[in-house]
Amino acid sequence: MNILGIETSCDETAVAVVRDGRDVLSNVVYSQIARHAAYGGVVPEVAARAHVEVLPDLVQKAMDDAGLSWADVDGVAATRGPGLATSLAIGLAAAKALALRLEAPMVGIHHLEAHLYSVLLGPDAPPAIEALPALVLLVSGGHTCLVRMEGPGRHELLGQTVDDAAGEALDKGAKLLGLGYPGGPELEAAARGGDPSAVDFPRGVARNARRDLNVRHPDLCFSFSGLKTALLYRLRSHPVQRGTGAFADVAASYQEAVVDTLARQVDRALDRFPVRSVACAGGVARNGPLRERLAAVATSRGLPLLLARPEYCTDNAAMIAALAGALLAGGASPTSLDVDIDPNLPLA
Ligand code: KG4
Ligand code: ZN
Repeated sequence: MNILGIETSCDETAVAVVRDGRDVLSNVVYSQIARHAAYGGVVPEVAARAHVEVLPDLVQKAMDDAGLSWADVDGVAATRGPGLATSLAIGLAAAKALALRLEAPMVGIHHLEAHLYSVLLGPDAPPAIEALPALVLLVSGGHTCLVRMEGPGRHELLGQTVDDAAGEALDKGAKLLGLGYPGGPELEAAARGGDPSAVDFPRGVARNARRDLNVRHPDLCFSFSGLKTALLYRLRSHPVQRGTGAFADVAASYQEAVVDTLARQVDRALDRFPVRSVACAGGVARNGPLRERLAAVATSRGLPLLLARPEYCTDNAAMIAALAGALLAGGASPTSLDVDIDPNLPLA
């Protein structure tokens, strides 16, 4: 079963073709970062216009790369939410139009469920039947949560951030240090050779997750907003010059505070929730020190570690098409073409 997936939840326009929910036949991503750089952040109107402009060519490229003809496409999928309303609308409308033209089923996908599923993508990933249930740490620029994934689209949300996402904390820290955007990789590079224990930054564990978050396990939540404030005060009292050892020490210590918090919460969740594997997805899953730390946690528990491949960590359509394929194969009904986008689509 070949599914063509479309992802336009934010500022990446992406199209992919995935066979049988796991073999990625093509995966094309157009990053709009340069178009938004001048504004210092993603401008929804600019993002939506760019999606409209580049999507048709990207769909054609994904089909060409996959070496398929339209008759080979068995279904179409697109992100339905959460995300920017105007961006989501473009991808979902395109998927509906394709589904009508091809007389194929359409599946509206939850962006975060697709990120979770991304750990099962690619030739090295184990079959879902062996890997699930998995404890998945989903860490991106907009989201940080701990989820027990039982099957495609079936999961329990165990914890989440009560304020900033982990990637946001890294991006804001990098900005305070005068590094570029996105801050995560810049900070990782700046931290290389630094001493992660040089500065004792606060660990972002949320002791009292706000009631309005409606989480069942407040002690498995995260809080990162105090971290950037701590860095701000640290830099005021101890200014550092870029390129010096002291700069690398601060960068490494800041990164360590994020990594240590994430790994500790994963470890804590493993005490209570039996799983077959530990996994990590989302943009921050590209981080080397985080990958190493999670490997240590998994080893200490005798569990395999599933890390999303770097190309499937950041926003992509392979994860959208893969999840749609797995859902349809599992007997899920296609989504009605009357469905609308939902910028706040909840995970649970
Ligand atoms: O998943 P993603 O592409 O976008 C969202 O949906 O949010 O994640 C982007 C985030 C940014 O905060 C970026 O700084 C972070 O992922 N990131 C990293 C690394 N590469 C990307 N953070 C730490 N280390 C990296 N190597
Ligand atoms: Zn994402």
